[in-house]
Amino acid sequence: MKPNTIYCGDACELLDSWKPGCVDLVFADPPFNIGYVYDGYRDDVPDAEYVAWSRRWMATCQRVLRANGSFYIAIGDDFAADIRILGRELGLHLRNWIIWHYTFGQSMKAKFARGHTHIFYFTKDRELFTFNDRQLRFPSARHTEYQDLRANPLGRLPDDVWDEFPRVCGTFKERAGFHGCQMPEALLMRIVMASSNPGDVVLDPFVGSGTTAVAAKRLGRRYVGIDISKSYAKHTEERLAATRNESAAQPHDGEWPALHVEMLLQLYRETKVSLANLLPNEVALRVIAASLSERVGHCYEVVEVRRQFERLAGTKVFPKLPNDTPFVARNHVTTEGKRYQRTIQRLRPRRETKPATEDEVRQVG
Ligand SMILES: C[S@@+](CC[C@H](N)C(=O)[O-])C[C@H]1O[C@@H](n2cnc3c(N)ncnc32)[C@H](O)[C@@H]1O
Repeated sequence: MKPNTIYCGDACELLDSWKPGCVDLVFADPPFNIGYVYDGYRDDVPDAEYVAWSRRWMATCQRVLRANGSFYIAIGDDFAADIRILGRELGLHLRNWIIWHYTFGQSMKAKFARGHTHIFYFTKDRELFTFNDRQLRFPSARHTEYQDLRANPLGRLPDDVWDEFPRVCGTFKERAGFHGCQMPEALLMRIVMASSNPGDVVLDPFVGSGTTAVAAKRLGRRYVGIDISKSYAKHTEERLAATRNESAAQPHDGEWPALHVEMLLQLYRETKVSLANLLPNEVALRVIAASLSERVGHCYEVVEVRRQFERLAGTKVFPKLPNDTPFVARNHVTTEGKRYQRTIQRLRPRRETKPATEDEVRQVG
């Protein structure tokens, strides 16, 4: 196994040839067996075959994982229960069953729209593992709402429902454009930050568009990715060539490195308090400054954090929190408005009884 490499081939066959215990963290997002169209891969095998294959690749990843390593698996509803049971049978320790609740889920016609993915967080050992809690913290409601003196000055940890990471939609700048299942970089950064240290080896056996490897490289970890598709592997290498290790980046003449700005905006998403309420809240800003400093390895003061928020406010990159868009009535005379009116017409029940005209009433009378 050569770190900082993207391998093309079958994950199990390749991993079988690696030395045991050579990686520190595994993140696996396998095909979900739901008939998704991948390059050169059939995603609709019989259920029993899929479960047997899952056991095989999970055991293979477990073998190459170091004794204190962590193993995350993203999976859809159909096989989440199987993966949990396989984890138990293989002797993995479940630390969290995370629900990634995303916005921009696919809409449905005859059932509730799907808006989540399961992420299992297993460790190889029950007690020995890396968990960098200080880098994950953000202000709690005790800081933001109640100004409660019992609030932990370091902030709180995220819970096991993650709703701060929108799905990477087609229109997003982050979209690499060659893979339909690209995961958000910010989500992978949380996992890499939590369960590995700089220099550690992070493996993704189904690397797809390369998100795990990109997050690992940006944060100064070593990556290894595998994908069965030549085309995905090639595009991932290109994506990685355009990615830098930003773990040592420092501000220069008051300019923040891109990673620091992204981390600050992610903290804003996690805090879920509008900027107008956040800026005067010294206690919450102190937690944000402390957590940001832990995440990026540079000590930021509250005054710098406040100034950076003010600079970013109103720019395109500033995240929109749910319901924080002021309502402005649309002008329905515009084309958009007409299209909307037509849609409304179509949705109305077809047979509307027209009220009788005055003439008709007179004739009957
Ligand atoms: C759900 S996608 C992963 C997406 C990835 N997490 C991302 O953010 O882009 C699953 C990937 O597994 C790959 N794959 C399927 N079978 C494989 C196998 N046996 N070995 C290695 N890769 C495989 C597919 O080509 C696909 O790119």
